[in-house]
Amino acid sequence: MTTSPSHPDIKSVLFSEEEIAARVKALGAEIAEAYKSRGIEDIVIVSVLKGSFVFMADLVRALDLNASIDFMAVSSYGAASKSSGVVRILKDLDIELEGKHVLLVEDVVDSGLTLHFLLRNLRNRKPASLELVSLLVKPEAVQVDLDITWTGFDCPNEFLVGYGLDFAERYRSLPYVGILKPEVYA
Ligand code: PRP
Repeated sequence: MTTSPSHPDIKSVLFSEEEIAARVKALGAEIAEAYKSRGIEDIVIVSVLKGSFVFMADLVRALDLNASIDFMAVSSYGAASKSSGVVRILKDLDIELEGKHVLLVEDVVDSGLTLHFLLRNLRNRKPASLELVSLLVKPEAVQVDLDITWTGFDCPNEFLVGYGLDFAERYRSLPYVGILKPEVYA
């Protein structure tokens, strides 16, 4: 693989395309093995739009399981740049979760408030099991007690973009996760 070209707004590349590909492959193997060891072959993957679309697309191809895919779109009330914990569902799931083994896929856990709401919401639908995988977790930013089953990478509390993550809808298509230059969002 070639080295990802950088972008003038990126201060540094935190996780390269190659590092992410290797981690996603390993995560896929680990997750499939965990389900199979419980005798589970069929799961429902719930992807939270928009940021997780790239991770979900790669992860699902690294998972040797029968996976149904569905999407939710949510938005936080309050300040645009910070999660408030009050979450509005913009697009709900089409698939019923009752009795299903559900894997919630997120791109990043920042404050954890969005996920805290989502997990409670999904639990109310009575799935047979509910697990959570997040590609990125910012341990210094997490404000709530969250049971994250699988984490791709712990990362610093910086403004991250790329591989699905945006700033003002930009940079989602970068193939790596990079730290945005402060002057871009200041
Ligand atoms: C991001 C991310 C999580 C949430 C995490 O979504 O995808 O859903 O923020 O933040 P929290 O842990 O502080 O709650 P965002 O609201 O940026 O929307 P997007 O996925 O459409 O980019």
